[in-house]
Amino acid sequence: MKQASIHIDRNFKLADVDERIYGSFIEHLGRAVYGGIYQPGSPLSDEQGFRSDVLALIREAKVPLVRYPGGNFVSGYHWEDGVGPKEQRPRKLDLAWSVIESNQFGLNEFMDWCKKAGTSPMMAVNLGTRGAEDAKNLIEYCNIEKGSYYSDLRRSHGVTDPYDIKLWCLGNEMDGPWQMGHKTAEEYGRLAEETGRIMRMVDPEIELVACGSSSLSMPTFGSWEETVLEHCYDEADYLSLHTYYGNPEDKTPDFLASSVAMDEFIRSVVSICDCVKAKKRSKKQINLSFDEWNVWYHSNEEDKKLERWIQAPHQLEDVYNQEDALLVGSMLITLLRHADRVKIACLAQLVNVIAPIMTSDTGAWRQTIFYPYMYTSVCGRGAVLQTVVDVSSYESVYGDAPFLDAVVLTDEEKETLTVFAVNKDLEGSMTVSCDLRQYADYRILEHMELAEADLKAVNTRLCPDAVCPKKSDGSRIEEGRLTAVLKPKSWNMIRLGK
Ligand code: AHR
Repeated sequence: MKQASIHIDRNFKLADVDERIYGSFIEHLGRAVYGGIYQPGSPLSDEQGFRSDVLALIREAKVPLVRYPGGNFVSGYHWEDGVGPKEQRPRKLDLAWSVIESNQFGLNEFMDWCKKAGTSPMMAVNLGTRGAEDAKNLIEYCNIEKGSYYSDLRRSHGVTDPYDIKLWCLGNEMDGPWQMGHKTAEEYGRLAEETGRIMRMVDPEIELVACGSSSLSMPTFGSWEETVLEHCYDEADYLSLHTYYGNPEDKTPDFLASSVAMDEFIRSVVSICDCVKAKKRSKKQINLSFDEWNVWYHSNEEDKKLERWIQAPHQLEDVYNQEDALLVGSMLITLLRHADRVKIACLAQLVNVIAPIMTSDTGAWRQTIFYPYMYTSVCGRGAVLQTVVDVSSYESVYGDAPFLDAVVLTDEEKETLTVFAVNKDLEGSMTVSCDLRQYADYRILEHMELAEADLKAVNTRLCPDAVCPKKSDGSRIEEGRLTAVLKPKSWNMIRLGK
């Protein structure tokens, strides 16, 4: 059995957790909106057409933030099409996903839905086919009380109070050639700077996220970040990162090592932000918004066969298995281990489209990845302790990959300590120990594990609970030392408290 140790010190806090790192994403794409969160006429929907079963699962996961309305979709979107009387809303071609957008769900429906889901909006503006003028109009519609054209337009749509939306994305993946209106770093940097400046003239209290690279593998990665920030350093508060991993060749050890690549990605972007800061002799620090991250590859072949110009098709409907849940657990640990700089993150996406929650006309269910996401979101609050993990590693396509990913959080108010840990050893259990003498009176509250032996096991409509966490009795504290036995290929959460 492999042995590992975790070292913490009560006084060595890395950072408070910004709860927004447990954000997610709803794009007008596939069945995320239509048939996902919104299905008027369904017996499962409320009077506004919102799926109540889906709302319940979103509240269960305490999703604090939802990015909207895209994604690639936003780069061709006219937000005005989605407000006002529904019968007058135009059906449009969505060129991002080659479908028809009915616009029956738009900004006001989304904001009502956010309230019911107990979440806050992270709104994106279209900097692909549009620009600063439309972004200005949108923020006026959302955040100005009354007395101007767009604020009064909102009121004429029945919304008296402004929404006061504080977090805005300046476009989406503007470096990507697939993106409508994609730009060079120079072009985008200038546009982001000017759009941000104009949006702040309307509401000086907003926070802005500038687009970083669409992934670490983009040929322009690095120079894109640098050039964009050279232009918009003073306007931007965050720089975005996106990444998706997959296991198309069924090489599980490499796949599980993807968190090493994610870690490297974060470190590189932090370095670039700080390099520009130094060059500008700025006092301001740019933090990171990892606003798209997940596993995505299962649905790729199916999606190539899709008919064009239909409404809300089954698109990007990855069915996740046990090993995907392990990687999602590890990616969450990676985000937490960078809590000093990653302040926002969005699991992409939330419902039906590469999502932890799936729906059919008869119900909603939790995919395997729902569990590490939900538990980390619900219990991973407080502060992250600097967590040193001493464990052996294996060789992977990303270099040395530790067999154990782990992080420890403390909540001084609630007097709890929470360990999240993934054992990537496919063969054997692992014994993990941690000196807890500084937490002398703490005992184990619970040890939850997701340890399905079949890495390819999935949850489906007919079998929704094939993979779900179970209580483990593998942890004990003796003489101030925690000893936990982690099953092979397992995700674990160990909560301790008084
Ligand atoms: O999340 C799916 C898509 O992935 C988003 O629309 C886009 O931003 C990214 O490429």
